[in-house]
Amino acid sequence: MTADLFEGVAAVLPSREVMAEGAVLLRGFARPSESELIAALRDIEGWAPFRHMVTPGGHSMSVAMTNCGGLGWVTDRGGYRYDANDPETAKPWPAMPAAFRQLAVQAAAQGGFPGFSPDACLINRYEPGARMSLHQDKDEDDFTAPIVSMSLGLPAIFLFGGLKRADKPRRFRLEHGDVVVWGGPTRLVFHGVAPLADGKHALLGRQRINLTFRKAR
Ligand code: SIN
Ligand code: FE2
Repeated sequence: MTADLFEGVAAVLPSREVMAEGAVLLRGFARPSESELIAALRDIEGWAPFRHMVTPGGHSMSVAMTNCGGLGWVTDRGGYRYDANDPETAKPWPAMPAAFRQLAVQAAAQGGFPGFSPDACLINRYEPGARMSLHQDKDEDDFTAPIVSMSLGLPAIFLFGGLKRADKPRRFRLEHGDVVVWGGPTRLVFHGVAPLADGKHALLGRQRINLTFRKAR
C-alpha cells in the first residue's frame, strides 16, 4: 500500500536531476501546463507557420521551425541571426504567451538561474527521422543567461556533450513535459537531438515539439 502510494506520487511530482554543474533536467515540469501550452502553440502556428529553414551551407533542416517573442532565431544562406520579424511575412513574430514565459522563468529559477528574462522562443517541430546535429547556442549577446528547453509530444534522445565538439555526448531521454535548463559552466556545451523514432503521442500525434527559450539581446 505504502509502496503503491509512493509510486503514484513519484509519477506526478516533477523531479530534478543534475546533468552537470549548471545543467538540470526537470522531469514532468511542463506537464501540468500541457493544455495551455498546446493551445498557445496552435495560435502561434496560425500566425507563423512551421517551415524548414535553410542553413548557410544550403541544406534544408529536417526540423521545422517557427518562433514567438520579440526576437526569432532564423537561418538562411546569409547566416544565423535573430530577427524581430518573420522573414516569410515581414511581420513581427507572435508575442510570447504568458504561459510560455512563466513556465520558462520558473524552470530557470529551479535550475539556479533566478531572474531569467527570455526575449526569444524558438519552436522546433520534429517528425519521425528529424534530427538536430551537435551545435552550440552562441548567437546570443549575453551568455550569463541560461537556455530553457521544453519537450512536448514524442520522446527524443537529447545529446548533451562538452565544450569541444569532439567530446562524447551523454544521452538523455526527454519525454513529454520534461524541461532542461543549462547555463553557467555548461552554457556553451555542444548539444543535439538523435533522429526521432516513430510513434504516436496521445496529444500531439507523430511529432515532438521543443520550445527553446533564450535571452538573445
Ligand atoms: C535546440 O538545440 O535548438 C533543440 C533542442 C531540442 O530539440 O531538444
Ligand atoms: Fe540548441
